[in-house]
Amino acid sequence: MQLLGIDIGGSGIKGAPVNIAAGNLVAERLRLATPSPSTPDAVAGVIRQITESFGTTSGPVGITFPGVVKHGRILTAANMDPAWIGFDAATFFSAKLGRPALVINDADAAGLAEMRFGAGRGIGGTVILLTLGTGVGSAVFLDGQLVPNTEFGHMEVRGKDAETRASDRVREEKDLAWEQWGERVGEVIARLAFLLNPDLVIIGGGVSRKAEKFLPVVQGMVKVPVVPAQLQNQAGLIGAALVAAGSAASA
Ligand code: BGC
Repeated sequence: MQLLGIDIGGSGIKGAPVNIAAGNLVAERLRLATPSPSTPDAVAGVIRQITESFGTTSGPVGITFPGVVKHGRILTAANMDPAWIGFDAATFFSAKLGRPALVINDADAAGLAEMRFGAGRGIGGTVILLTLGTGVGSAVFLDGQLVPNTEFGHMEVRGKDAETRASDRVREEKDLAWEQWGERVGEVIARLAFLLNPDLVIIGGGVSRKAEKFLPVVQGMVKVPVVPAQLQNQAGLIGAALVAAGSAASA
């Protein structure tokens, strides 16, 4: 089965049809810039454009959002327009697209994909996926089951929001050397490891493609195994489609 996955990020909105049995994209993804301001109407316009460009896919659409999402409603929006807070995104997108839309937190979606098809496959116990992008997101799994909407990117580290020290955006903005940024990421993971004692930590986000530049520093700072995501920046899209598939299956 092929379903459309859409990944809303603080800087880009991506979409692609996904083969949900194989866990891969069946066409090259389309990426458009996140509009500024990133209001619901502006974002829906971009999503519509992406959806229309993949005219062949039908059925439910899975959409990720970079904030807490409960029952389709957005509860936080650290890197998006505040108009999203309290907004029923699932109902809104369904109406705008004319087909069912399922909305899930972006890190949770990436985690679902990594657990099914990537670095977390077959791993029991506590697995944490940390996405490092415009913000820092987290997904926690216990024996393969997602504990949704964890927000460890906003954990306090050195008196600051972890995201404001260790996101990839901060690395770029402050032009941090990979080693220096790696230490910041390592501090966040050390704190997480102290609090949750996970069995595995997976690093996701586009930066996971460059893991060799910073992961050795992180690994030297913590005892828990830390590995890069295998689906890299496709994980969010694949996870979004998996969520849509869940709704298709139960419909
Ligand atoms: C948000 C999370 C999100 C993460 C990555 C954070 O600022 O609070 O919900 O998963 O950014 O986009």
